[in-house]
Amino acid sequence: MTITQQLQQQVSAAAGLDAWRELPIRQQPNWPDKQAAAAIAEQIATRPPLVFAGEVDRLRERLGQAAAGNAFVLQGGDCAETFAGATADKIRARVSTILQMALVLTYGASMPVVKMGRMAGQFAKPRSKDTETRDGVTLPAYRGDIVNGFAFTEESRTPDPQRLLDGYHVAVSTLNLIRSFTTGGFADMREVHSWNQGFAKNPANARYDLMAREIDRALKFMTATGADFEALKEVEFYVGHEGLLLEYERAMTRIDSRTKLPYDTSAHFIWIGERTRDLDEAHMDFFSRVKNPIGVKLGPGTDTETMLRIIDKLDPEREPGRLTFITRMGAQKIGDVLPGLLESIKAEGSTPLWITDPMHGNGFTTERGYKTRNFDDIVTEVKDFFAAHKAAGTHPGGIHVELTGDDVAECLGGSDRVDEAALETRYESQCDPRLNHKQSLELSFLVAELLQQFPSAEVPVGQDNW
Ligand code: PEP
Ligand code: CO
Repeated sequence: MTITQQLQQQVSAAAGLDAWRELPIRQQPNWPDKQAAAAIAEQIATRPPLVFAGEVDRLRERLGQAAAGNAFVLQGGDCAETFAGATADKIRARVSTILQMALVLTYGASMPVVKMGRMAGQFAKPRSKDTETRDGVTLPAYRGDIVNGFAFTEESRTPDPQRLLDGYHVAVSTLNLIRSFTTGGFADMREVHSWNQGFAKNPANARYDLMAREIDRALKFMTATGADFEALKEVEFYVGHEGLLLEYERAMTRIDSRTKLPYDTSAHFIWIGERTRDLDEAHMDFFSRVKNPIGVKLGPGTDTETMLRIIDKLDPEREPGRLTFITRMGAQKIGDVLPGLLESIKAEGSTPLWITDPMHGNGFTTERGYKTRNFDDIVTEVKDFFAAHKAAGTHPGGIHVELTGDDVAECLGGSDRVDEAALETRYESQCDPRLNHKQSLELSFLVAELLQQFPSAEVPVGQDNW
């Protein structure tokens, strides 16, 4: 063992990075060969990290700014990324969609926008049931490409630990392309028009085009005055996913050589799902010990006591940007639940970042068996999120959505009026329904308008590559 490895081991032990193994744990695959899974995890632990501690720290600072009301966070991507979907075209479409939405938000609301993909690692899914039955045949539920296959056969549904390593490699290649796009000139603000190419005319796109023209004009004017736009060539783009498979997240956790602190290097940001956030269980324990900014989903059943205990567990030092609450309460319930939580937190000296996920509380299944969501419900939940923050005097810090850059029909409504018949023709998600490109843009215009009721940021837009 090298000296570095010895040091990693000692610090990991001191940091309690394996304490979760003794605790109750939910939503893990039932690997047929546990030793094989452990051997793969050991291999992953020797592979290079996806992200560096310095980037993670910078994101934490950015999120701290958002929590303080000086920035807004846009988090978006597939419900479940697939290995087959990790193509250059699909990745580009998602990155463009997020960049377009961010531009609308930045320009419309005069706030720097932290851009984050549910990308490059969003492969593992919690399921409501361990098994799925079709026509009398019962097989393990699909838990995401990093665990098993979607096809309903025994072979495909049997958890295969080799997929952990495949997941790592697909995450690496996805992040590599994201980094190229966002630092290699594609994300240059002077290219705002090109992000819109290939999309048919529709109100949201036309509105975007108009805004892109205004920005173009402003940039040309500034250039003529001698301003230097080199900084606009690159944007910061972060990635995050649900930290679900602890074997994988543990293997990707490394001790930073500079600070000697543990970082989960599988992503900049990790969130803990609604189903795995029990206070005395494995997920909370593990993620309380890594330095990454951590998100926690809060459903409609969240009470004040639980919320306060989560703060003490994950953010005992009250560190800006460390903790994000991602509320996913449903359009019917957010107005009843969120205001009380916001009021009770004010006395605590804690200023977590609040993000709305208007997707996961609004799902339903159509008579024909399609899992879907109404665009109007999504909009209602977003509006009520903003209203609750306005009333409490707190900052609505961001939005977390399931989206794709492609022209799918999975969520109903929007200006294109996607209907149930359309679901039959363009439904591609293997998991939850996503906003398509146009619905995503439409939502961003709406959010930009809502943000205008809040004080604008103290941090100048355009500073420092935001
Ligand atoms: C998700 O974000 O895809 C998810 C499963 O969310 P939640 O934990 O809020 O249900
Ligand atoms: Co989902």
